[in-house]
Amino acid sequence: MKNLFGIEDLTGAEIQMLVDHAIELKAIRTLDPDDQPLKGQTWAMIFAKSSTRTRVSFEVGLNELGAKAMFLSSNDIQLGRGEPIKDTARVLGRMVHGIIIRTFDQQDVVDLATYSKLPTINALTDEEHPCQIIADLQTVQERLGSWRGKRVAFFGDGDCNMGRSWAWAAKRCGFELVIAAPEEFQPAAEFMERLGEAPVTITDDADAAARGADVLYTDTWVSMGKEEEAAERLRILAPYQVNHERLAMANDGAIVQHCLPAYRDKEITEALLEERADEIFHQAENRLHAQKAILCALNAAQP
Ligand code: CP
Ligand code: NVA
Repeated sequence: MKNLFGIEDLTGAEIQMLVDHAIELKAIRTLDPDDQPLKGQTWAMIFAKSSTRTRVSFEVGLNELGAKAMFLSSNDIQLGRGEPIKDTARVLGRMVHGIIIRTFDQQDVVDLATYSKLPTINALTDEEHPCQIIADLQTVQERLGSWRGKRVAFFGDGDCNMGRSWAWAAKRCGFELVIAAPEEFQPAAEFMERLGEAPVTITDDADAAARGADVLYTDTWVSMGKEEEAAERLRILAPYQVNHERLAMANDGAIVQHCLPAYRDKEITEALLEERADEIFHQAENRLHAQKAILCALNAAQP
């Protein structure tokens, strides 16, 4: 695995390997300095969007693996003033050991990898959020034993990065995914065509999606970059809230998951989030362990 652009590019075996390694790394949080696989390296972290979990987990994870993290807000570097991605990439390629980027356009991640020739990680684009999915699947494995035979129900904006990454995960890993979204926010036909045959169903009936689910998953209704559409999104997506009524329809032992940040009484009720905070913040903690597994996998694939 030379880069991580999206879940689309991974095999089921690679996903399982990342999750298993994340669980191992969680058990041995402090590595002996002689065993730190990224010792002496410096990784650039270019962020064009806000972040708490992704930024902190990568900075701490790099540190724990022996590397230095260099956080570069895209507003502070020349990229924000129009310097092309390919020039930024060629400079970084001569100075650092890897790149983590959070941005809008998926092609920017690919171009950064191509021109820098460095291992490059997608830390969220409008297209996918692969690092989040590895932590989510780790949480499913830890809480439910396995994702095999399980049903994940995703509620809300099914046409966002999280909806798409979940769809690829269902295809690659073979579990059932149901996306509950109103027509305007269902995955685009073009995306479904690219996804091809997959155990993914789409419905506008949120109760039907909740029935028989083992994981109730939601994400903000207003993804970064969509702020101007906020009022309309909140109105159209209101019937897709994850709440106690929907949890009561799910299977016994179902877990509630949210990639966070959470907007109370919008996509999830305050009461349910607080009641299930242990499993939601378990998921957030796993971001750290999953990032370390991703970094190790990319590092191991370098010539
Ligand atoms: N879930 C997630 O990626 O959170 P941040 O935006 O805080 O990184
Ligand atoms: N869909 C959300 C995910 C945040 C982690 C966004 O893109 O803002």
